[in-house]
Amino acid sequence: MIRVLSVTPEAVPLVKTGGLADVAGALPAALAAHEIEMRLLMPGYPAVMQALSDEAETVARLPDCFGGSARLLAARHDRLSLLVVDAPHLFDRGAGLYASDSGKDWPDNPERFAALSWVASEIASGLLQDWRPDIVHGHDWQAGLAPYYIAQSEAAGRVRSVLTIHNIAFQGLAPASKLGALHLRKADFTPEGFEYWGQISALKAGLIYADRLTTVSPSYAEELTTPEFGMGLDGVLRQRAAALCGILNGIDRRVWSPETDPHIRPYKTPRGKAANKDALQQEFGLPMADGPLCAVISRLTDQKGLDLLLDAMPALLERDGQLVVLGTGEAALEGAFRRAAEKHANIAVHIGYDEPLSHRIMAGADAILVPSRFEPCGLTQLYGLRYGALPLVALTGGLADTVIPATPATLARVPVATGVQFHPVSAQALANALGKLCDLYARPKLWLKLQRNAMAHPVGWDQSAAAYAALYRDMLNPS
Ligand code: ADP
Ligand code: GLC
Repeated sequence: MIRVLSVTPEAVPLVKTGGLADVAGALPAALAAHEIEMRLLMPGYPAVMQALSDEAETVARLPDCFGGSARLLAARHDRLSLLVVDAPHLFDRGAGLYASDSGKDWPDNPERFAALSWVASEIASGLLQDWRPDIVHGHDWQAGLAPYYIAQSEAAGRVRSVLTIHNIAFQGLAPASKLGALHLRKADFTPEGFEYWGQISALKAGLIYADRLTTVSPSYAEELTTPEFGMGLDGVLRQRAAALCGILNGIDRRVWSPETDPHIRPYKTPRGKAANKDALQQEFGLPMADGPLCAVISRLTDQKGLDLLLDAMPALLERDGQLVVLGTGEAALEGAFRRAAEKHANIAVHIGYDEPLSHRIMAGADAILVPSRFEPCGLTQLYGLRYGALPLVALTGGLADTVIPATPATLARVPVATGVQFHPVSAQALANALGKLCDLYARPKLWLKLQRNAMAHPVGWDQSAAAYAALYRDMLNPS
């Protein structure tokens, strides 16, 4: 049995702002089959503290934890074995995980997640008498300092560390004046260490000090080493290329299976989607239409390329296609989609975050659109495959690795395609791709075959859990 401490700022079903939460929440169960015991170390946000039952047990006290005292709690929740940092001065506050109601990042975010990372290193050093990890597996910048603290601790050399990059756009920068507050050595505040253009970078610390690095798709692993996608850290990643690999995300089939989904009219074959499509059109007040019903379920940010979709929409509307958008994010994008919905009967928009609705949309939509400028993995195209909502995606990152694009070759005799891809990521290329989608949709037999292909495509955790297990084994016994 290999013991792994997963250090994560979010996990389903407790707290989620993006796909990282799905992945962190699904991995422990997926890995159990590989003789890996994974416990999650998480911040004690109000939502986490409330979810813990009376059975939560105090397993350690941390009197001096980044500006206040803290407790470490152990609890089980759903299928998760949790260790929770109960530090009210850092985590007991309302609203978002990372920002206040007004959307401004909490000014002490560096301390909050340094604390999480430091507790990980304490656990690696033997804080808990009965459980010590063989490997500490951190996620994103929030756990970036864990490999650094471990390297400075008595666990150095004994406990291995791996950091997964879910999104390099978030780097956890802090001013140099916080060196002391974050318990960082001035000697390591160098370009070879965690210094990044005069600031402290928690993510860079992880990239430099972790034994291994992973990201969430093979294509993104390659992209990360290029200036176009590395967001200033491509040099570091080129230097550590031998330690970096890409392992695709899977989806949690307990939650995302059209056969058993409690939020929809369950179905086993693509034909079962019709009732869900009717219901979705009714729910959103959309008319019947000749073209495909396309969906977006997404954070509304620059990354996701949805401004391009606004520009490309005529290509869908002129074929009597429809669009349903579920999302929240930048005010400008929210406003633009709201206005588009007011103008066109074939566009409907729900601004907000709504998990059950996201299931109903997947079940009812003919296609899911993911025109991202970059996408480390992406989960909604995987849900789309599983639910027979054909993905139309940009040729980038994990989108490139998970969708088999419709081309003359993949449509020949026995079609193997599962969706549509476009490149470059521009409004024109997206408009062309929407036209192609409409052409395919106008051939019902072919469309049905593509839906069958999509629904049969493996998107669960089996292969990827095996890849993580192999990585852990290799870290402990290098071949
Ligand atoms: P990212 O992590 O970059 O946001 P992913 O595709 O990996 O992108 O994961 C996004 C996750 O968040 C998916 O599970 C998706 O269904 C969900 N999601 C995004 N926006 C919403 C929303 N408005 N309502 C419900 N679920 C959403
Ligand atoms: C990030 C990425 C997304 C990925 C998710 C989970 O938020 O933007 O592509 O699927 O992490 O790894």
